[in-house]
Amino acid sequence: MTVTDPHTSAGTLAGPARRPFPPGFAWGAATAAYQIEGAAREGGRTPSIWDTFSHTPGKVVNGDTGDTAVDHYHRFREDVRLMAELGLTSYRFSLSWPRIQPTGRGPAVERGLDFYRALTDELLAHGITPVATLYHWDLPQELEAAGGWPARDTAYRFAEYAGLAAEALGDRVSVWTTLNEPWCSAFLGYGSGVHAPGRTSPADALRAAHHLNLGHGLAVGALRAALPAAARIAVSLNLHLVRPHSAHPGDLEAARRIDAVGNRIFTGPMFDGGYPADLLADTAHLVDWDGLVHDGDRAEIGRPLDLLGLNYYNPTVVSSAENAAGLPRHDGHGESPYSPWPGAEDVAFHRANDDLTAMGWPIDPSGLTDSLTDLHRRYGLPLLVTENGAAFEDVVGPDGTVHDPERIRYLAGHLAAVADAVDAGADVRGYYLWSLLDNFEWAYGYGKRFGIVHVDYATQARTPKASARWYAEVIRRGGLD
Ligand code: FCB
Repeated sequence: MTVTDPHTSAGTLAGPARRPFPPGFAWGAATAAYQIEGAAREGGRTPSIWDTFSHTPGKVVNGDTGDTAVDHYHRFREDVRLMAELGLTSYRFSLSWPRIQPTGRGPAVERGLDFYRALTDELLAHGITPVATLYHWDLPQELEAAGGWPARDTAYRFAEYAGLAAEALGDRVSVWTTLNEPWCSAFLGYGSGVHAPGRTSPADALRAAHHLNLGHGLAVGALRAALPAAARIAVSLNLHLVRPHSAHPGDLEAARRIDAVGNRIFTGPMFDGGYPADLLADTAHLVDWDGLVHDGDRAEIGRPLDLLGLNYYNPTVVSSAENAAGLPRHDGHGESPYSPWPGAEDVAFHRANDDLTAMGWPIDPSGLTDSLTDLHRRYGLPLLVTENGAAFEDVVGPDGTVHDPERIRYLAGHLAAVADAVDAGADVRGYYLWSLLDNFEWAYGYGKRFGIVHVDYATQARTPKASARWYAEVIRRGGLD
């Protein structure tokens, strides 16, 4: 199948394929528990912060919730069959903490684990390598009631849950990622409040960031203790590819601040030995870092990883406030009077270009190449693209099919960007497109469709879009043209 589109930005619009990817490259798709599973009250599962948040009027567009989602809990065999038909070699999903450990404490619930045993058995039977994410934002509500991520104890609870999951599933899951996008958990959850639990305190957001880091490090220790030596452990970060709007010193300073509180707040302690001094200075008026960071935390957080997961959607262009002339905050992270950027509240965000997805996110694959090559240069770790994809206003044709050339163009451009990074020497081991299925897109509800497989929410019928057929062909050929 050849796809032509005059609007290609990467110039490599995709078709039949002679741009090979490295041998063993993982061709994947990603999902998350709350976005697809449904069965919110089955199998002993209790509410997570996203159940509470989505049931709070005004928090999610249209009052949508994940109560039913796309019913993957009951339809996982059909969904795995679809993955196999598309030729996926790997699948990244998340474990629902409140399904496995409903109160966030104590022993695991076997029924919860059984669901993931059955799912992973099904994947393995189809030759698909499972990649389990421990935390994709669904904190058990009881732990939020006890203080949530701003409370230090939550980090220890997370490590305990990680150990339980690894003991139960370590015989069949060999690739694990601890946290998905801790920046969103901390700064959208506790800063701007557009994500669960919807708190709006800059100090709590910073405390949450530290405890997510600590939880990650403690969880790496718990995973290593429970898993076979060959298991590989990662984290999935939505590192912002920050570009200054101009070479003006004010814009360079804005970029430095956003890089600090958007990226180095995680990569600093995970890979560079501690929190960067400029971040501590930028936020010293908001939080007592000396009290927050205990002796020994740095060593925990800095435990070695085997892989680094990058989630990339678009670049982030920033300037000083003076260079923004009253622009709305185009940071792509939702509308809120509260900033998710503690210590950088006056930084202005610009759109990188006007070629936008249905989320209003600018399309710029070069940012993915730049991110991967930069991460390779800095840390030398094998890399995974653990998320990348796009929502568009899909139209179901009279014959029931979805022709989605814009999504194909997005994916082709970004896969070419991965290939460029590989050519430049980055050790990229896999690509997980977001997402396999249309699903509950957090505060946007079901209105934003990211899937390569269309879901009719009235009937739960799954129909692969043209982009799914295209991706299957890329996989079959082992790369792009
Ligand atoms: C990422 C999330 C994922 C999905 C995509 C569109 O930030 O990790 O769950 O919502 O954005």
